[in-house]
Amino acid sequence: MTLVRFISADGDDEMEVRAPPGARLLDVAQEVGQPLEGTCEGQMACSTCHVIVDAADFARLPRASEEEEDMLDLASHVTRHSRLACQIFLTEALESLTVRMPAGVRNMQGR
Ligand code: FES
Repeated sequence: MTLVRFISADGDDEMEVRAPPGARLLDVAQEVGQPLEGTCEGQMACSTCHVIVDAADFARLPRASEEEEDMLDLASHVTRHSRLACQIFLTEALESLTVRMPAGVRNMQGR
């Protein structure tokens, strides 16, 4: 199980959830109501699943593909540690993963 920690764009809200190996980060986020639209459902055609990964965790993830990098170029508020949540799959080795919502994303729950 991976302990996934979601941090709101303003840093004020945190949510922790455990998810099994093989789970896709986008699905985990949506299940708990995180504000990621994921409009293209993982086709790397929308960038609405953009998240900012904790620096240490970023280094532990497999590198982004060229297609993912290209799509991130089009996203707003991109940082050096930006990834597309639809391209991140949890693994047994990944004990924890912390990601922050990019600025400009509304929290659908209004919290
Ligand atoms: Fe569209 Fe990830 S859901 S790029």
